[in-house]
Amino acid sequence: MADRIKVTNPATGEIVEEVAAHSTEEIEARIEKVAAGFQSWKKVNAHERARLLKKWSDKIQEQKEDIAKVMTLESGKPLKESLGEVDYATSYIDWFAEEAKRIYGRTIPANTESKRIIVTRQPVGVVAAITPWNFPAAMMTRKAAPALAAGCTFIVKPAVETPLTTMKFIELAHEAGIPEDAVQYVNASGRKVGEIFTGSPRIRKITFTGSTPVGKHLIQDSADTVKHVSMELGGHAPLIVAKDADLDFAVTQTMTSKFRNAGQTCICANRVLVAKEVVDEFAEKLVKEAAKLKVGNGLDKGTQVGPVINGDGFEKVVSQIDDAIEKGADVLLGNEFNKDDDKGYYFIHPTVLKNVTSDMVIMQEETFGPVLPITVFDTIEEAIEIANNTPFGLAAYFFTNDYRTGNYLHEHLDFGVVGWNDGGPSAAHAPFGGMKESGIGREGGIEGIEPYLETKYLSIGGFE
Ligand code: SIN
Repeated sequence: MADRIKVTNPATGEIVEEVAAHSTEEIEARIEKVAAGFQSWKKVNAHERARLLKKWSDKIQEQKEDIAKVMTLESGKPLKESLGEVDYATSYIDWFAEEAKRIYGRTIPANTESKRIIVTRQPVGVVAAITPWNFPAAMMTRKAAPALAAGCTFIVKPAVETPLTTMKFIELAHEAGIPEDAVQYVNASGRKVGEIFTGSPRIRKITFTGSTPVGKHLIQDSADTVKHVSMELGGHAPLIVAKDADLDFAVTQTMTSKFRNAGQTCICANRVLVAKEVVDEFAEKLVKEAAKLKVGNGLDKGTQVGPVINGDGFEKVVSQIDDAIEKGADVLLGNEFNKDDDKGYYFIHPTVLKNVTSDMVIMQEETFGPVLPITVFDTIEEAIEIANNTPFGLAAYFFTNDYRTGNYLHEHLDFGVVGWNDGGPSAAHAPFGGMKESGIGREGGIEGIEPYLETKYLSIGGFE
């Protein structure tokens, strides 16, 4: 990679800014810096760490409008969503600022009068994060905040597509008083930084949000130094609409889940499974709503669906649509594009496909675009079988007002995040993460700080 990274606006193809790409030596120097900083940051008491994190959150909020604009420029997401993401990002900082004060130990009754056993928690050490372009702010803070709250120091590599939001956040962390040797960023290609991070004996933990293939590499490469790993990887979310569901509500929630960030989220509905009794009505209502969505530049007022991130992302989505049509799917809406290969922008209009079957690629792979495939099922058991028939297990959704059906679905779906009559389950106070090849570990909730802590027990002998 050149020594400059050109950050481009996915809505226009124009260069937003150029940033320095760090050399191997520079990256290693920053790792050394946070490794040295760990010795002092871990001693900062939990209440002070909490205070500094809260100050960081406040500073971000003070600049919310400017940050959101930059986020839209580099990621393409509608400004309203960028503003929402700033709030979402700071909610993780606020949550973990409080959790810093709740890192408890315990005592264990010994099996003899002569001993006492005490369990304490300590930070794992230097944490390295690799974060994605689809949520440049929130995926970073939900790693940085628990790491810093636990007493770890932190170094992050943002996606090359969206480094600006992260750089601003780190600058504000320093302004808030979090020491420069406690939190740092580096900019370079994912492959290069991945190799340096995983190979570094200084780094004790790797945390990553991104694709499953890259996650598997990072896990393998972390084995030599037996690092802790947290992986938030790909998804392929089923969204099940039972015959008794409130269809209007299911449609609004499906829209929220599917079209947020132009369908470029790991948890967005990727396979919509609808009971045969209601499939036509549901599809009709959905198409009516999806047709109203305004596609365009995220900075333009009223835009609800921005561009996809780049040409590769576009090709993947279009090839899934083509494959589905070739194998017999009907296009109810969309399959329309506004793109310019020379300039480098790619818009995909909301697309709804019906009569989608399991042999189609879209039913097997994550899409990452505003395409909604509808497939029909006869029984709830069949819906569960289709839903679980994937190596992924991140998010699943279902819509039913029957508590028995709902409970049955909840118990049988193999996914880490489940929305029952809820298309937007993400929250800083809940444990987000996947089963199977969707990941290892949880982010958010009381679980979210655990992966940054080691457990140590002390056995004291010699009592009378
Ligand atoms: C993701 O797509 O990776 C995260 C989505 C969320 O936090 O809601």
